[in-house]
Formats: sequence, structure tokens, C-alpha cells
Amino acid sequence: PKLVALSEIEQCDTPARLEEIRVQTLGKSGSITALTKTLGSMTDEERRAQGPIIHAIKQTISDAIGTRKVALEDAALDARLATETLDMTLPADVPAGGTIHPVSQVMDELAEIFADLGFAVATGPEIEDDWHNFTALNIPESHPARAMHDTFYFPAPDGAARKMLLRTHTSPVQIRTMLNQKPPIRIIAPGRTYRSDSDATHTPMFHQVEGLVIDKGITLGHLKWTLETFLKAFFERDDIVLRLRPSYFPFTEPSAEVDVGFTMEKGKRVIGGSDGWMEVLGSGMVHPKVIAACGLDPEEWQGFAFGCGIDRLAMLKYGMDDLRPFFDGDIRWLKHYGFSG
Ligand code: PHE
Repeated sequence: PKLVALSEIEQCDTPARLEEIRVQTLGKSGSITALTKTLGSMTDEERRAQGPIIHAIKQTISDAIGTRKVALEDAALDARLATETLDMTLPADVPAGGTIHPVSQVMDELAEIFADLGFAVATGPEIEDDWHNFTALNIPESHPARAMHDTFYFPAPDGAARKMLLRTHTSPVQIRTMLNQKPPIRIIAPGRTYRSDSDATHTPMFHQVEGLVIDKGITLGHLKWTLETFLKAFFERDDIVLRLRPSYFPFTEPSAEVDVGFTMEKGKRVIGGSDGWMEVLGSGMVHPKVIAACGLDPEEWQGFAFGCGIDRLAMLKYGMDDLRPFFDGDIRWLKHYGFSG
């Protein structure tokens, strides 16, 4: 019988054909297997003569198939490497990176500007109680200012001494700082604040930065100089003009609303000059009752405070005209207005 020509194995050029040959020879009903089976019906003498030959044939075929298999696999790999070229000189893909949100950027700028003026950064909880958010700031229970703040309250557990709320401004950080630090105090407190309010210029969550100075002999002059120095540094212009308008906040006396002058450039308001005025922050001399509520003697310690919308500052400096996209998380907006680290 035709077993299989060794040359057929050596010249076989596909793994499929090689497998076919393997089945035909060494498989269960293959020709070599059949040959091995003939040993059973041989006499001892025949077997002694034929056995080694049959086994040698089997070994030879098996070795040839194995060798050819490796050769075919190597050839397949070579062929793949030849077509799949990899250009090591191409620049690597830059991984998609995020950007720094304008609010974070402005917070960093504020911290840096005020650090130069000797201010530290203070923080407080966004979930506050009504004592820190209102009462200690001279806004008692029935005060109309409470209603004006559109406060988000948490459902109060029975018998709770203090109502919990989302802080409506960063001013409670004034209280926490005065309770925890000995004067002189110079801090800013940037962070999230919340009011039930929503349109193009108001979002229920927004950002403020609080400023507080408590020391001896502090006057309105210190307040004005500090705000002027801050706004000049922030808007990177020397022609910043401020206007202090008398106003009312329960926790400052006297109180002033601060406007910054702007000029029109290409239909946009640009900070600097004084063709028109824009309100940028609230401020005043810390009310003696607030100082006393924090356990300090108002005869000994005076100070000023201010509160300013951070999102608003970002819009004025970087030219956005809608506040809502700040918090939509749209990557296109973030790529456009974001900062690289
Ligand atoms: N907390 C005030 C507000 O949110 C701003 C302010 C802060 C005014 C400090 C005076 C002093 O409107």
C-alpha cells in the first residue's frame, strides 16, 4: 500500500493539508496505524524482524510531520510580520487629557493673589447649620434676609437644635474661622454655595469667595485698598476703577456694594475704565455683633469682609456670557474654555 511519500510531507504547504496527511497516516484508521496493527497477528519471529522496521517508519513519519508543522508556522509568522509593518518613528498618540475648569483656574488665581497679600485659604462645610449660616451672622430667625436667600433646607429630625441647610453663601466660614483662630486673621474662603434659583446668570449651585480680615485698627480704607489691589491683579490691568455704593448686609456695618468700571470693546464689556459699572461683590466692616458672637471683644478687634461670585469673575475675565454651561460637563465647552495644567 502507498503509505505516504516523505517528499509529500516535506513539500506540503498548508497546515490543513498537513493535518490531512497526519490523519491519513497516524490517525485511528491511518495507514501507519494499520501497519502497526499487523504486528499482532505475526509470529514472534516475524515480529522481531518487522517490529523495529515498522516503528522506525512510524517515527520517521511522525518526525517529518512535526518538523513540517514548525516550518509552516514560522513561515506564517514571517508572512504576517512582513505585511504588518510598525513604523517606530511615528509620533505616539497623545492620550486624551482633561482641562482645568475655569472655576478651578480662577480659584487658583485668587489663592495666589491673596497669598501675596498675606491671606491664607480657609474652608467650611457645604452642609451647614442655620446658626453658622444665619444666626451668628446677625440674621435672626425672623429676619427677612433668611427668606431672601432661597435656602435649600434638609428635613429636620425631631428635636434637632439646629436646622441643616446647604450654605447660601461662604460667610459662615467667617464664623468658623473666628471661632477656631486667634486674631489677627487674614483669610479667603472659596467654595460652593447653593440657592434655589436658576436662569442664564444663576445656577442652584454656584461659587463664592469670602474674604475676612480681623485685626486692630482696621478701617474701610484697608478694605478699599485690598479690593482694588485684588481686582487689578485679577484682571491684570491698572485702569481698574471701583465704586463703593452704600448697601445693607446684616453682618457688616457699614456695608458697601462694589462696582467695577467697564468699557465696551467690539460689543463686549471689558473690565477697565469707567464707561459703565458692574456690581462684582458685597462687602463691609464686620458687624460688632458678629465679632461678639464668635467670642471676641469688638472693642479690641475690628475687621472687614467681602463676598464675591467666582463664576461671575470667570465670565468677566474669560468672556463667557452664559453661566449654565459651566456645570453641564460638555466636553466641547470644557475644551474651549478649560486651561491646560
Ligand atoms: N454673603 C454676602 C452675599 O452672599 C456677601 C458679603 C460677604 C457681603 C461679606 C458682605 C460681607 O451676598
